[in-house]
Amino acid sequence: MFDAIAPRYDLLNRLLSAGSDVRWRRRAVARALDGQSRAVVADACCGTGDLTLELARDPRALRVVGFDFAAEMVRRAVRKAGRDARTRFAVGDALRLPAQSERFDVVTVAFGLRNLVDPAAGIREMSRLLRPGGRLLVLEFFAPKSGAGGALFRAYFRHLLPRLGRWIGGGSGEAIDAYRYLPESVEAFASVDEVTRWFTAAGLESVATERMLFGSVAMLTGVRQASAARTPARELERCVA
Ligand SMILES: C[S@@+](CC[C@H](N)C(=O)[O-])C[C@H]1O[C@@H](n2cnc3c(N)ncnc32)[C@H](O)[C@@H]1O
Repeated sequence: MFDAIAPRYDLLNRLLSAGSDVRWRRRAVARALDGQSRAVVADACCGTGDLTLELARDPRALRVVGFDFAAEMVRRAVRKAGRDARTRFAVGDALRLPAQSERFDVVTVAFGLRNLVDPAAGIREMSRLLRPGGRLLVLEFFAPKSGAGGALFRAYFRHLLPRLGRWIGGGSGEAIDAYRYLPESVEAFASVDEVTRWFTAAGLESVATERMLFGSVAMLTGVRQASAARTPARELERCVA
């Protein structure tokens, strides 16, 4: 499905969010790199690389690696990055990232966590990459809060967005399904409180949340504990590495 929507993914994002997605990612970069210098960053579920490239544009980032399991998304990201020496992309599953443990200062995931078959395991896998004291940032859609604004957003998301997606995106089959899948997956996804609990269970502390657009978009950050307990599997991996 993600390979199928790759050609029009950026255009649809800009149009369907009326450009807000750009603002959300900029805000995510400011939060992710706050207090950092020469940060080594991983961006999981990077898609066409919008967040990866936004991170790389920030002088506080030294190197940024984007991972995504959809090869077509990664191909587009590589094309967009051009000759930017500070950015790399690789095909990789967020549940089994092809990177060594504790090598990154910051790990980000934007609008990707909800898609994982086991998002709590995704949080654990992403925090595995963090050095102690490193920061995980999740940017994601959630069910909006109750109230008039939330109801309006819900109506847009459920009814208008799939139609617009089909109309603008053209195509058929999987490309059309993607914009039906989006509201359905958000409604089926966990709450911000639940994701906060996954952060804590993965050994992340100082968990902070920021909600935007009637609560329909949220940013969560957490810092990997300096003395995070390591599972035997991680110990084994360190010995082998
Ligand atoms: C909605 S897009 C978000 C892309 C990008 N982060 C952005 O902000 O535009 C979700 C991305 O997650 C990727 N994805 C879904 N499940 C994945 C997994 N298990 N491992 C890696 N990438 C995954 C999809 O291929 C897709 O590119």
